[in-house]
Amino acid sequence: MSPGTETSGRALARRFRELPGYPLEDIPRIKEELRSRGVEVIDLGAGDPDLDVPEAARSALKRAADDPELQGYAFQRGLPAFRESVADFMERRFGRRPDPDDDLLPLLGSKEGIAHFAFTVLDPGDRVLVPDPGYAPYFGGSYLAGAEVERVELRAEHGFRLPPEAIRGAGDGLKLVYLNYPNNPTGACVDRDYLRRAVEACRERDAVLLYDHAYSEVAFDGYRPPGLLDVPGGTDVGIEFHSLSKTFNMTGWRLGWAVGNPTLVRALSRVKSFFDTGAYLPIQAAGAETLDRMDAFLPGHLETLRRRRDAAVEAFRGAGFEAEAPRATLYLWMPVPTDEASEDFARRVLEETGVVLMPGSALGAGGEGYVRAALTVPEGRLREAGRRIGAIL
Ligand SMILES: Cc1ncc(COP(=O)(O)O)c(C=O)c1O
Repeated sequence: MSPGTETSGRALARRFRELPGYPLEDIPRIKEELRSRGVEVIDLGAGDPDLDVPEAARSALKRAADDPELQGYAFQRGLPAFRESVADFMERRFGRRPDPDDDLLPLLGSKEGIAHFAFTVLDPGDRVLVPDPGYAPYFGGSYLAGAEVERVELRAEHGFRLPPEAIRGAGDGLKLVYLNYPNNPTGACVDRDYLRRAVEACRERDAVLLYDHAYSEVAFDGYRPPGLLDVPGGTDVGIEFHSLSKTFNMTGWRLGWAVGNPTLVRALSRVKSFFDTGAYLPIQAAGAETLDRMDAFLPGHLETLRRRRDAAVEAFRGAGFEAEAPRATLYLWMPVPTDEASEDFARRVLEETGVVLMPGSALGAGGEGYVRAALTVPEGRLREAGRRIGAIL
C-alpha cells in the first residue's frame, strides 16, 4: 500500500474522522443475526416502501433501455422530456410553472442534491440551522462543507414545527436554513401561512432556505402540503427538493429534482458537475412517464398507506404507545412508552420481538424520548408488530 492509503486513521481527514455514524448503519447486521436465529423480522426502521412501482414507470424503463439514443451520459440538465414533465407536475400541483430550462435540475435522488447543495452556499465558518431530529444529510452536507451547525430542537409543544423566531434569533453568519414538511421523522405538517412566515424570516436574515419536499405527495385526509412555489417570495430565497422515491415506491431508482431560485439551481448544477454526470437517461424517461400518468396510480397508493397508517396507530395504541395519526409521511412518531433511552428501548424491542423501530436519538439528540415506525409493511404485519411489542411492555 502506498503511504496515505493504509486505514490506520492517520491518513483520513479530521472532518471524516469526526463524522458521526449514519443512523441505520448497524441495523442490517442485527437483522441478519436475528434471521440466522430463525426470528421473522418486521422491519419498520427505514422509509423504504415494500409496495409496487407504478406500471407506467416499469414499462417506460424497459422501452427506454432499448433506445440507443439514451445510453450515454445524461450530464446535468438531463432529459428535456423529464424537465417538461416535472414542470407540468409542479404547475398542476402548486399552481405555478417553473421554467424547465432555468428553474429545474434532475438529481440522482433528492439526498444527493440536498447534501451537495451545502457546497454551493457555505463557506467554512458559515452558520446553518438544522432541525433536530432531522434527515442526516442536512448535518452531513453542512459539516463536510466546514459550516457551523446550529441545531434547533423540534418540540412537541410547537407541533414539531421549527419556529420562524428561531431563524430570526439564530447566531451571526446565518447562511442556510433546512426545513422539511411534511416532516421526517415527526410526521408534522405545515400550512401556507407557516411557510410564508419561514420564508419571510429567511429573507430578513438574508439566509437561503433549503426546503426538503420529499414527502410532498404522501399526504392523507385531503391535506395538500404547500411548497415554495405557493408562497410569496418562496423562490426568491429558496430551493426545494423533490423525489420519486416515496411517492412512487421508487427508492432504488435514484431520481429526484431541485426547483426554485434559478441562481441557486444553476449553482447546484455546477457543483454537481464535479461529482456526477447525471441520472441514467432511461430512468429519466421513465420518471417523465410516471409523473404524466400519476393520477392512475397515486389515489389507490395513498389509500393503501392510509389504511396502513390507521392499522399502525391502532396496533401501537393497543401495545401501550401514545400514537397520533400523521396527516402525511410514512411515519408514526411516538414517545418511548418506558423510561428507557430510545436506543436502549429500540434495541430491546428488536432483540426480544424482531421488530425494527428507529430510535429517535439516531436522528439527532432532539429525537431522544421517541421512536419512529415506518408504514413499510402490510397492515397484518403492523398489527403483528403491535402485538409482539405489547407483550414485552
Ligand atoms: C426527509 C427526507 N428527504 C429526502 C429523502 C431522500 O430521498 P431520495 O434520496 O430517495 O430522493 C428522504 C429519504 O428518506 C427523507 O426522509
